[in-house]
Amino acid sequence: MFEQQINLTDVFVSMRKDPVKYKVDEFLVGHLGFLRKKENIESCCRNEPENLEFPAEDLANFWELNHAYLIIGSAFMASLIYAAYLICCKPLNRVLPYEAVGFEHLKSEKMTSKERAFRVNQMNKKKELGEIPPVFPNGWFALMESNDLAKNSSKFIQALGTGLFLVPKGENFAVFRDADGEVHVLDAYCPHLGANLAIGGKVRGNCIECPFHGWLFDGNSGQCTSIPYSSSKPPVQAKVKSWPCAESLGFIMVWYHAEAEEPFWQPPQIKGVSDGEYSFCGRSEHYISTHIQDLPENGSDVAHLNVLHTAGIPAGPRLVDLHGFLSKIFTHSWTASWKQGDPSHTSTVALTHTGKVLNWRVPFMDIISNIEQKGPGIVILRFDSLFGLGQGVLVQTVTPVEPLMQRMVHRFYFSNPWLKIVGKIFLYGENVQLERDIAVWNSKKFIRHPLLVKEDKMILAYRRWFSQFYSENSPTLESLSKKKCLDW
Ligand code: FES
Ligand SMILES: [Fe+2]
Repeated sequence: MFEQQINLTDVFVSMRKDPVKYKVDEFLVGHLGFLRKKENIESCCRNEPENLEFPAEDLANFWELNHAYLIIGSAFMASLIYAAYLICCKPLNRVLPYEAVGFEHLKSEKMTSKERAFRVNQMNKKKELGEIPPVFPNGWFALMESNDLAKNSSKFIQALGTGLFLVPKGENFAVFRDADGEVHVLDAYCPHLGANLAIGGKVRGNCIECPFHGWLFDGNSGQCTSIPYSSSKPPVQAKVKSWPCAESLGFIMVWYHAEAEEPFWQPPQIKGVSDGEYSFCGRSEHYISTHIQDLPENGSDVAHLNVLHTAGIPAGPRLVDLHGFLSKIFTHSWTASWKQGDPSHTSTVALTHTGKVLNWRVPFMDIISNIEQKGPGIVILRFDSLFGLGQGVLVQTVTPVEPLMQRMVHRFYFSNPWLKIVGKIFLYGENVQLERDIAVWNSKKFIRHPLLVKEDKMILAYRRWFSQFYSENSPTLESLSKKKCLDW
C-alpha cells in the first residue's frame, strides 16, 4: 500500500500542475467512475505534496478497478490466443455417422431427430443390395489409430462382424500395447470362462492378464503361460488366436485372411509420415452403408468426377445443393487414369485437378495427385505441391465393420509445420467432396453386371483386380446368415 501511495502522489501532483494535459476530469470519471473520488482528489491536489493524504478506501477502489480492467483484458487476449491456436494448430477432427450424410430427403421440420434416425435405419434395412461379392476381402485393415493406444493399455475392437441384422458373430479383438511400445492383437475372449481380455485386462510385459481369474496370455503366440492359482502347467489348448498386426501411417492394422494364410505383403511406410517429419493436420471418420468394393471403385470411375465433384467446396456436400448458385462460381475439373500396379496387390490413379472461378482457371489451385491403393483397405494420396506451400499425404483406411457398413478414416499430413491451417482447410475441402460420394454410396445398390460404355472400361479392369482379394472361404452374406442349430 505504501508503494501505491507514493506513485499516486506523483501522478496527482503532476495533474495539479498541468490539469489540461492530464485531463483530470476524464481521468477521474473514466477510471474511478465516482465524482466523490474526484472531489477527494481535487481537495488533495490543493494541498502541498508533503501534506497529501489519500483515503485508504479510495486507493483500494482505484486499484480494484484497474485490476478488473487488467483481468478482463488478459482474459480477452487469452481467449484470442486460444481461438487462434484452435484455428491454426489444433488438428481437425470430423466424425460423422452414416445417418448424417446423404439423407436430406428424410429431413422435415416436423420430424424429431429420433424419428429421422428411425426412418434412415428403415431405409437402410429395406435397401436393395444387389448381387454382392463376398463381404470381407483378404488384406490389412485398420483397427484403430496408433495414438489411441498408450503403453500398457488395451482396447476392445469389433470388426468384420455380421451386424445385428444377422446372427451376431464376427471378430472381437483385444488390442494391447506393451511397455516397449509393441502392439499385440489377440482374440478377445478368454478360453477359461469367456471374460473379455481387453476390458479390464492388465498388460504384463508382452502378455495380457485376464481380469476374471488372472490367466496370463502371451501377446505374440496367444498361449496361456500362467494360471496364478494352479500348480499345474497351463494346458496347451489354453490359447487364444493371435492375429498378425502392424503399425503403419498412424494406424494399428490387422491382417485378415479367410484361409488364415500368413501375410504375403506388409502395410506401407512412407517418408515424411512414418518418420514423423510431416505435421499431422487432422482426421475424419465416416461410417458408410455399402459394400467395401464400392469405395475404391471410385478411383477407376473417371466419369463421376466431372459430375459429382464439379461444384466448388462452398456448395457443400449435400447432393441437393450441387446445382445452386454457389456451384457455378467455384468449379473443379478432373482427369484420372487408373491402372493395376506392381506388386499385384497395388493399383494407382494419376489424378489432376483444375480449379476455376467463374470459369477462369486459377493456376494456384491446380493439384496433381498420385493415388496408390494397397490391398482392399489402404489408400495413399500424395500431393507433391499443395498450392505451392508444401507436400501433403492423405492416408485413407477402410475397415468393414459389418458386411455393409464400412468405417473410413482419413488422416492428413503436411510438410510445412507453420501452415497446418492449410492442411486443415484442404482436409475439410476433401471431406466435402468425399461426403458427396458417401451420399451416393449410402443409398446405392451393387450391380454385378453394370451397363457400361467404353469410357467406363477402367471399372471392369478395377473389378478384375479387386477380385484377387477374395478366396474360397471368403464370407458371403449368405454364409454369414446361416444359423447354427441348437445342439446342447
Ligand atoms: S475367464 Fe479368464 S481367467 Fe477365467
Ligand atoms: Fe468420388
